[in-house]
Amino acid sequence: MTVCLSGFMGSGKSFLGRALADALPARRFIDLDAFIEETAGKSIPDIFREEGEARFRALEQDCLEQLLVPAAEGGLILSLGGGTMMAPACAGLVRKHACCIYLKASEDTLVERLLGTDLPGRPLLEGATDAQALRRKVRALLQARSATYEACADAVIQTDGRTADELLAALLSLPCLSAGI
Ligand code: S3P
Repeated sequence: MTVCLSGFMGSGKSFLGRALADALPARRFIDLDAFIEETAGKSIPDIFREEGEARFRALEQDCLEQLLVPAAEGGLILSLGGGTMMAPACAGLVRKHACCIYLKASEDTLVERLLGTDLPGRPLLEGATDAQALRRKVRALLQARSATYEACADAVIQTDGRTADELLAALLSLPCLSAGI
C-alpha cells in the first residue's frame, strides 16, 4: 500500500521519505511538492505569487489524485506538503488510498530545523525574517493544524530529539512498512 508522510514544514517528510525508499528497494519515492512543480512548470513560490494559494491548493489536490488513485496497490512512498491534509478532499484521498504517517515535531524543534532551511521556498513562512517572527508563524499554523494531523494519521512518529537513524528504524517497524516492501 502507498505510504504517505504528513506533518508540518520542516518535520522531515522529504528527507525520511527518501531514506525509506533507499532502505526499501521495492518502493519508489515521490515528493508531492516536487511533482506539483514539475506539473506546473514553475516553483511553488512562483505559483503562490503569480496564481495565488487557491490555485496551488487545486493543483495539490489534482496531483495527489493522479499519484494516489492509480498507485493504490503499488509501492509508493509519498511525502505530502505541510498543508495537504488540511483540505478535506485531500485528506479523504489519503485516507482511502494510503497509510498515513504523521511526523510529529514540537514548535521548538520545527523552529530550529526551519531556521537552517530554505525559508524563501516556503511562501507561508514569508516575512519570517528572524527567529521570533518565524516562531510566531509556526506557532499559529501548528495550533491550527495539529489536531487534523493527528486525526488523519494511521500512525504518529514523535521526532523530537531523535536522530535520522532512530526515526528510520521507528518508521520501518510500523505495520505498513515492516513487511519490507
Ligand atoms: C505548505 C507546505 C509546503 C508546500 C507549500 C505549502 C503548507 O511543503 O506544500 O509551501 O501549507 O504547509 P513542505 O511541508 O514540504 O515544506
